Order: sequence, then C-alpha cells, then structure tokens
Amino acid sequence: MKRILAIVLAVAMIASVAVLAGCGNKASNTTETTIATEPASAKGKLTMATNAYFPPYEYYEGEKIVGIDADVAKAIADKLGMELEIVDIEFDSIIAGVQTGKYDMGMAGMTVTEERLKSVDFSTSYAKGIQSVIVTENSPIKSIDDILAKDANYKVGVQLSTTGDIYITDDLGDAAAERVTEFQTGNDAVAALSSGKVDAVIIDNEPAKSYVAATAGLKILDTEYVSEDYAICFAKSNTELKDKVNAALEELIKDGTVKSIVDKYITAK
Ligand code: ARG
Repeated sequence: MKRILAIVLAVAMIASVAVLAGCGNKASNTTETTIATEPASAKGKLTMATNAYFPPYEYYEGEKIVGIDADVAKAIADKLGMELEIVDIEFDSIIAGVQTGKYDMGMAGMTVTEERLKSVDFSTSYAKGIQSVIVTENSPIKSIDDILAKDANYKVGVQLSTTGDIYITDDLGDAAAERVTEFQTGNDAVAALSSGKVDAVIIDNEPAKSYVAATAGLKILDTEYVSEDYAICFAKSNTELKDKVNAALEELIKDGTVKSIVDKYITAK
C-alpha cells in the first residue's frame, strides 16, 4: 500500500514538474524548493531510523516507540544536547536511508557484519544478540540441524534482510528459494508460524522471547544458531557524528546507564 502511494506521489511530482516546465520562463511562477544539504544533525536534531517491531529493542507502546534502542538513543541525544526523532521504516531500507543522509543513524538491534561494513560504519557495540529458532510446541524440529538436513523439507520464516535471513539462506543454498519465506516484520513471520504457514522462525533471541511470551503454543529451541554484536550505523562520510555518538555511548556504557536500560527491559521482566 505504502509503495503504491509512493508511486502515485512520484508520478504526481513528475507531472507537476512537467506542468511547471511547460509554463515557459516566467521564473516568478515557479516555486523554488531549497534542498537541505546540511545533515539533520547540524540542526540539533538526531534522526534515528529503526524498524519498530523488534521487542524489547524497539516496539510500540500506544503511539510511542519505546525499548532499549529508543532509551539508549535518547540518553545519547541528551548527552549531546540534541533532540531525538525516531523514524519507523522497513528494516531493509535503514542502511540505504542512512547512506544517503536521509537519517543520521540507524539503530535497530542491528548486527555488525562484514557485508554491512562495506556500506556503513558502526559505533561501539552496545549489546549482544543470538539468532534463535522458534517452533511450535509439538514440533518435530529439535535443532537447527534438523532444518538444515539435506532430506528435510521444513519451511522457515525470517524478517527480510536480517542476519537470520542471510545465514539460513546461505546455509540452505539451492533449497533456500523453496524453503525460506521473507517477511517484512518479525511479527509477520511469527504469525505465519502460528498459522502453520512455516515450520520455524529464525530471529534474534530477545525478540524471540517476547514473541513466545505473547503467543500461545510456541517455544524457542535450546540451540543457538549464531551469536552477534549490535551497534548503531552511520554513513561512512559522517565520521564527525559517529565520533560524537561513540564518545557519548562509551560514557553511558561506563557509568552503567546502558546496563540499567537493558535491565529495565530484559532482566527485570
Ligand atoms: N540483528 C538482526 C540484524 O541485524 C535483526 C535486526 C532486526 N531489527 C529490527 N528492528 N527489526 O539483521
């Protein structure tokens, strides 16, 4: 739906440009749009792109996006004397949005990977993640190896472009096209598991725990698939902001603020 709207808007914009162009050279008739070349951060505002269906890192409480990332970002912004704006977009669009400078940073329980490091820079890591496997309570799947077995035909749900997606697609090789379904959010993947459309979901451990707690009939396998580091991403050109954020983040790690935020959302639950 959003995509359709975007196309309609794009067509409308092209049409209006064409109309303006057709108006001849009467400059006074054209409205000039100033394109901001200054990054948003220069204006005292810090825009953070996230995908807010990833509890306890980011999720909606009513209209508000809350969670570990939201709180850590707020603490960073406060330290830097900036105003924080959180923008909820598709996970798959975060890196491109940061690269082009549309957002100052991406913070989404995002794993540092070699591949992503080619496109963006990452801050100091502020949390650890593990890729877990969720199945239904009476599932015959006992470990990730059951899914990877050559003669198995289990279907796996993942969130598009997440590391869970990348690893399982890689490990299944040729069988991936048939057996991996990519969903736009973790919520959608878990709903597909509940309704029997897939046999397992691969997702980060903390969101996995939240989903299993909120959905009857699901469990997490004991086996850990992959363990990883979460960090904030920045455009490669924006080292100034990265350095400032890193300095603030490192202080917040040192003085225990990050830990108390994590405790508030995880340990204390
Ligand atoms: N840690 C995984 C990755 O970086 C999943 C992150 C998904 N985050 C989200 N907010 N939906 O690929």
